[in-house]
Amino acid sequence: MKFFVDTADVAAIAELDALGMVDGVTTNPSLIMKSGRDIHEVTREICALVAGPVSAEVVATEADAMIREGRRLAEIADNIAVKVPMTWDGLKACRALRNDGCMVNVTLCFSTNQALLAAKAGASFISPFIGRLDDINLDGLQLIGDIRIIYDNYGFETEVLAASIRSANHIAECAKLGADVATAPPDVIRKLVQHPLTDRGMDAFLADWAKTGQRIVA
Ligand code: G3P
Repeated sequence: MKFFVDTADVAAIAELDALGMVDGVTTNPSLIMKSGRDIHEVTREICALVAGPVSAEVVATEADAMIREGRRLAEIADNIAVKVPMTWDGLKACRALRNDGCMVNVTLCFSTNQALLAAKAGASFISPFIGRLDDINLDGLQLIGDIRIIYDNYGFETEVLAASIRSANHIAECAKLGADVATAPPDVIRKLVQHPLTDRGMDAFLADWAKTGQRIVA
């Protein structure tokens, strides 16, 4: 499973990238707002840092305007994936931008039928939002599994990009369900290393080592 980082924080991306943890990046208007940076400038910086796809989202709501914005965003770098919303206009823009040869990520997906439409429109990625479904007492992970089954049934090549990930458990479950990609905030990716038995084991090893009085490097 590929890891994308769901942030426009360049320092956080660089830190995880140095560990080989970054296969791509996803941004959205809220994350750009949070970064406090100009969308063109920060997206260019991220694209230069990361070799994989970098999602940058359009904000127009009408297809022609989305296509214009998408083309402008795609000019930033070859690894831009234009993010369009799951609406009929978004799907029209998806089709047109794919015909241009751009990667397209269809975002704000909350149902299997929406995922089917995105695949038929030729989306490179579909972004089902797990956490926001959980927020309204629906089962976000179930959606990931259902989309996986449907895409496999028909051989759709659209990659399942699990988004709105809120916990380490979400990532493990998405991996079991066969999501192609999980995009998660840097803090959630950092938490994947944590286990209380690892901490307890380290404490015990270090306590015993101190009793030997030895050093590995003089
Ligand atoms: O990039 C879109 C998505 O990951 C947003 O997550 O936590 O705002 O629902 P969240």
